[in-house]
Amino acid sequence: MDSLSEICSSASNCRDCDLHFSRKRVVCGAGPSEARIMIIGEAPGSAEDEKGIPFVGRSGKLLDSVLKSVGMQRDQIYITNSVKCRPKLGMTPKRNEIKTCAGYLEMELSAVSPMLVVPMGNSALTSLGFILKRKFDRISEIVGKVIETDGFFIFPQFHPAAILRNPKRKEYFQEYFKMAKELLDDLGDLSRDEIISKYRVARP
Ligand code: URA
Repeated sequence: MDSLSEICSSASNCRDCDLHFSRKRVVCGAGPSEARIMIIGEAPGSAEDEKGIPFVGRSGKLLDSVLKSVGMQRDQIYITNSVKCRPKLGMTPKRNEIKTCAGYLEMELSAVSPMLVVPMGNSALTSLGFILKRKFDRISEIVGKVIETDGFFIFPQFHPAAILRNPKRKEYFQEYFKMAKELLDDLGDLSRDEIISKYRVARP
């Protein structure tokens, strides 16, 4: 299995899709390899493209403040994106770009082996769908529902950019992270069957 630094150095030389034309820097995932939770965003924006670090722009500030408000520490979370390179101004990554980049996310999942994965928004769900060979409903249908897989639980959440566009949703965003924190704590204390019954987990 590749280490996170090996995965990052291979992503840094990647030219497998057109996004390498528009990037300044490849934005690798960040956080501890022993993190119990992985958060997956969509794609780097301009601040991330400049710095080479995920979630350091406006969406990142919102994410940081909400994580803090529910008692989660960013330095204990592994944070990454469905694609590692910035799409052209304001664009969402295309399906084939997400598919091409999903190999990196798959390697990150095996290197970190989180108990809980929080995909924020549809691009992150699409990427997980490629890796797990299943099709997820849209985020608005499954936000806040716990989904079981062989290796980890999935807890879909809105993308912070959607909250910045529609601040009325901020309290839901915070509420869902509160649930994610409780679920993460329970994953350390309860059996798989207890988790499944407490959170009414959707079985595939
Ligand atoms: N939005 C994302 O999805 N990822 C980032 O890293 C920044 C903004």
